[in-house]
Amino acid sequence: MLHIAVIGATGAVGRECLGLLDGGIVPLARVTPVASPRSAGHDLGAELGLKIPLVPVVALDDLDPEGVDVAVLSAGADLSRARARRLASAGALVVDNSSAFRMDPAVPLVVPQVNPDELASRPASGIVANPNCSTIQLVRALHPLHALAGLESVVVATYQAASGGGLRGLEELARDAGEVLEAPGAAVPGLPGGRFGQPLAFNLVPEIGMADGTGFTHEERKLVREPRKILGLPELRLTATAVRVPVFHCHSEAVYVRLREPVTAAAVHDALAATPGLRVHRDGYPMPRTVFATDEGRAAVHVGRIRVEPDDPRGVWLWIVADNLWVGAALNALQIVEVAVGRGWLR
Ligand SMILES: NC(=O)c1ccc[n+]([C@@H]2O[C@H](COP(=O)([O-])OP(=O)(O)OC[C@H]3O[C@@H](n4cnc5c(N)ncnc54)[C@H](OP(=O)(O)O)[C@@H]3O)[C@@H](O)[C@H]2O)c1
Repeated sequence: MLHIAVIGATGAVGRECLGLLDGGIVPLARVTPVASPRSAGHDLGAELGLKIPLVPVVALDDLDPEGVDVAVLSAGADLSRARARRLASAGALVVDNSSAFRMDPAVPLVVPQVNPDELASRPASGIVANPNCSTIQLVRALHPLHALAGLESVVVATYQAASGGGLRGLEELARDAGEVLEAPGAAVPGLPGGRFGQPLAFNLVPEIGMADGTGFTHEERKLVREPRKILGLPELRLTATAVRVPVFHCHSEAVYVRLREPVTAAAVHDALAATPGLRVHRDGYPMPRTVFATDEGRAAVHVGRIRVEPDDPRGVWLWIVADNLWVGAALNALQIVEVAVGRGWLR
């Protein structure tokens, strides 16, 4: 039975971790919710209506790492850089949701449905990284296509929800939408200090994270580097445009895949439908609101609008939707823990 510390428990991802632990995803002895001193003492168990016994929120500086088997970190990259190694050297397996260690060669970057062999033994660093939310749903659909006909190149445009910006992102979209509806004709305010840098309601923001000298943003860079590491294809050609959209939950992606061998749409359907955790929509198509409406929907990666180019049977289009807080963060992190428990190398 495990003692799990959920660090960043009061945030968008942390709350979902607690909810999934409450549902019994891994066998537990104890869950300690941890956040900043601002939240210390808060009764999250009562607020979220959890069945598992939960102590009030502990400030990170007051967490005794002794006896913590797993620390799931969801409190930003700076905090992970400052704390993850210390927690790992105290004996905890650290599963890190931030970008801090994803490209570190000593840290496996894991999507359990794609590269579970990375978890064959406990990493010497004691840290396992959870990929970026947009990366996870992308590689879960690309992996069976690679097995089917070999990946040659991938072009992706993302449509990313406000929950990707945490609780503050959700609050900001709701407030901004209310203000626009009250005064639709008012001048658009700049939001330089806001979570998205621009007003998001009734808008599209084609910039997630800072752009580097090439003009690509950090988010777009992650969508190139991370799939290469997870799929074990360092030469794979990928390119991305990442866009924040005024949707509360679930990221969507329009993906153009060029394969090494010709395929039919039926073969692509069958390969994706046979992959555990993927749901292929043959009639209709997945959308953020329908995917988010049920726990079953939130737990899967949804693929629709599968098209093979009539003039080029190596060119395939996909529309992929998944819940960034579950598939893209909390669920993937806890499935990593589940695999580690199954393989028996958690102390
Ligand atoms: N949102 C997503 O879709 C998503 C997906 C994949 C990965 N991630 C990653 O997951 C992490 C959390 O994202 P989020 O969306 O859940 O953010 P969030 O809603 O803003 O939550 C941030 C959490 O971090 C805690 N925190 C902040 N400063 C802290 C400190 N000094 N000590 C201890 N705890 C501190 C906050 O506690 P207080 O409430 O006490 O301030 C809160 O619990 C980020 O690294 C993000 O990149 C997010």
